[in-house]
Amino acid sequence: MFIMGSPASTEPSLSLFFSTLIILALILNPAFASRDCNFPAIFNFGDSNSDTGGLSASYYPTQPPNGETFFHMPAGRYSDGRLTIDFMAQSLGLPYLSAYLNSLESNFTHGANFATAASPIRPVKRGLSEGGFSPFYLLVQYWQFMQFKSRSQLIKKRGGVFASLMPKEEYFSQALYTFDIGQNDLGAGFFGNQSVQEVNASVPDIVSNFSRDVKLIYDLGARSFWIHNTGPIGCLPYILVNMPITASQIDKAGCAAPYNDVAQYFNKKLKEAVVQLRKDLPLAAFTYVDVYSVKYLLISQAEKYGFEHPLVACCGYGGKYNYSPTAGCGDTITVNGTRLFVGSCKRPSVRVIWDGIHYTEAANRWVFDRIVDGKYSDPPLPLRMACHKKAM
Ligand SMILES: *[C@@H]1O[C@H](CO)[C@@H](O)[C@H](O)[C@H]1NC(C)=O
Ligand SMILES: *[C@@H]1O[C@H](CO)[C@@H](O)[C@H](O)[C@H]1NC(C)=O
Ligand SMILES: *[C@@H]1O[C@H](CO)[C@@H](O)[C@H](O)[C@H]1NC(C)=O
Ligand SMILES: *[C@@H]1O[C@H](CO)[C@@H](O)[C@H](O)[C@H]1NC(C)=O
Ligand SMILES: *[C@@H]1O[C@H](CO)[C@@H](O)[C@H](O)[C@H]1NC(C)=O
Repeated sequence: MFIMGSPASTEPSLSLFFSTLIILALILNPAFASRDCNFPAIFNFGDSNSDTGGLSASYYPTQPPNGETFFHMPAGRYSDGRLTIDFMAQSLGLPYLSAYLNSLESNFTHGANFATAASPIRPVKRGLSEGGFSPFYLLVQYWQFMQFKSRSQLIKKRGGVFASLMPKEEYFSQALYTFDIGQNDLGAGFFGNQSVQEVNASVPDIVSNFSRDVKLIYDLGARSFWIHNTGPIGCLPYILVNMPITASQIDKAGCAAPYNDVAQYFNKKLKEAVVQLRKDLPLAAFTYVDVYSVKYLLISQAEKYGFEHPLVACCGYGGKYNYSPTAGCGDTITVNGTRLFVGSCKRPSVRVIWDGIHYTEAANRWVFDRIVDGKYSDPPLPLRMACHKKAM
């Protein structure tokens, strides 16, 4: 308005009047506190529920038919298509996250993904080669993030193509930090011959490791946290098939109640931990997202929402749940002397469980659609407003 002495420059007092009005309106209007955060990046930590290629790049690549629905090829995800984290990135106007561990084709301008399939919060002795867990437990993911933060800025200074692959320095404080981890800590107990009560008793220790790691990430400048709780593990075929479950332990949805009880106890402790983190780190915003309830709702009322056979794996082989630990999705097995490819079901778009452990793209999208507006969150803020400490 003040450029070149145009006629408009004769109205500074008027424009001052209007800008004062706007500022006043912003202060007085409760919507002021609920403005969009415009997250420029996402940094994600977790397990296979949000791994976009980390384990696949560092151990063995995901095999067909993984990826068939959306990417039309294996894309480092344990699903026929996208994961909830993909839909989250997309809804914030950001590209799908590159895995930190993926040396090929990664672009970290708008964030990085430190999650790997089979990652626990606490280290598990039994490694992947013994059919166990990922060495990239949460503290290792933090170490990788620490290194990413400093080295990405050194590399960015080289300019040119390097600069166009790395996040801006200010993104680290402005980004959304997302977490979906804990399922493998419970799984490690169950598959390590611990009783349900023993695994349950280890929950406080698991959650306190989680809190410590979140604080370390906060110390590196993170301020907006979006934390998924753990899903109903007792509804997944890998538990239903492998664990000693009696008929009386099966609930109305067909899930193994004691295993879900442990998941719910984990979630109770996790929620308490988030309350404590808010007190300890008052500068940060923490959103706790009840993914458990969303997944359980989908499984227990699948037909109502247009899905079918919610406990049966789409891609698998054998038995009531179309799942067998020795015939995984994408494997070739020999049955009565005949070679057989373990492929996917006819309509993954109406199925919930993909391979006995993970969800289909359709289910992941359904979960995303329920959590994006904050209806399952504490505080009940939409994803795009998760930099705020509470809803107005
Ligand atoms: C990386 O992604 C950003 C944002 O999508 C884009 O502007 C940039 O050109 C990409 N870099 C390369 C080398 O493709
Ligand atoms: C669990 O117990 C079974 C039977 O006793 C044994 O074969 C298996 O190796 C044990 N697994 C672990 C992880 O200790
Ligand atoms: C887990 O431990 C908590 C606290 O001791 C207890 O309230 C809960 O009933 C336990 N759940 C199971 C499944 O053992
Ligand atoms: C993390 O877990 C380990 C192993 O159970 C335990 O010894 C340690 O006390 C925990 N650390 C924190 C900070 O909770
Ligand atoms: C394999 O052969 C046995 C014996 O003939 C038969 O009972 C079984 O149903 C066959 N299994 C499959 C998967 O065809």
